[in-house]
Amino acid sequence: MTRQVRTAIFPVAGLGTRFLPATKATPKELLPVLDTPLIQYAVDEARDAGIERMVFVSHPSKTAIERHVMEDARLTRELRARGKESIADALSEAAFQEEDDDVRFVMQKQPKGLGHAVLCAKDHILEGPVAVILPDDLILGDVGCLSEMVEAYRSGTVGHLVATMEVPEDRVHKYGVLSVTGKNGMIVTADGMVEKPDAKDAPSRQAVVGRYILDQSIFDALATQKPGAGGEIQLTDAIARGAASLGLGGFQFSGTRFDCGSKAGMLEATLELAAADPECRTVLEQRGLSFPAGPIAA
Ligand code: G1P
Repeated sequence: MTRQVRTAIFPVAGLGTRFLPATKATPKELLPVLDTPLIQYAVDEARDAGIERMVFVSHPSKTAIERHVMEDARLTRELRARGKESIADALSEAAFQEEDDDVRFVMQKQPKGLGHAVLCAKDHILEGPVAVILPDDLILGDVGCLSEMVEAYRSGTVGHLVATMEVPEDRVHKYGVLSVTGKNGMIVTADGMVEKPDAKDAPSRQAVVGRYILDQSIFDALATQKPGAGGEIQLTDAIARGAASLGLGGFQFSGTRFDCGSKAGMLEATLELAAADPECRTVLEQRGLSFPAGPIAA
């Protein structure tokens, strides 16, 4: 059985209620960190990891996502006609080309949860394990988080591999949390996972962030998954059901994760990238701001 990860799923149907009013007309995945929308960071990370097929699970009200990720021939033509070759080149390079790239859009019309969103992609998956990327978890680092995970998955044995990081006890209720059994290099082994537990019931402080590599049997598990936390079909619950038979690992990635589903996390990511941008860095310096070393908010 192949351990090569060929498909990535991007669940992007959510209403983005935490970011209203910004997300009233603009999908949250198109909110920018500096000048680049969140979805672009996610797409670039998947590309770098060698993913062949990208499946976006979107919503009919969020067609702007498709417009962003696909090549806009008219716009690049117009830019070139105005002599803006380098901007046209950059846009074209970042975008998917209709003829050359394997990209699919599937609609999740009802907000039934992350597990349901992943299940919507079922008929569009290439052979082998699948990656899931949540674009509002922005992970910055020298090597893309998904690239690291693909490599670890290929040489490992677990069926499900999820990205994980330690969070303070008063934050565990915001995450899926691993029931940890041991540690092997960058991977913590686990025999289960709980969605958004109260601090007192949390099996550990190893929180799952939005990168997953899942055995293809996840779709069978999701098809019979009963609603869990918040009345939604939870991806966490379906992963947990396969933990014993498939093996479950938490991958402790080397990059820094920013919770861009929150205002504080978005600000931290912006400051982090601004500090590395000559034009923006001057603005920070003029205000006497020191530069953050990674996020404070988890
Ligand atoms: C989702 C998952 C949760 C995970 C989190 C990471 O929750 O359900 O298990 O820890 O993403 O960001 P959400 O933040 O969408 O409520």
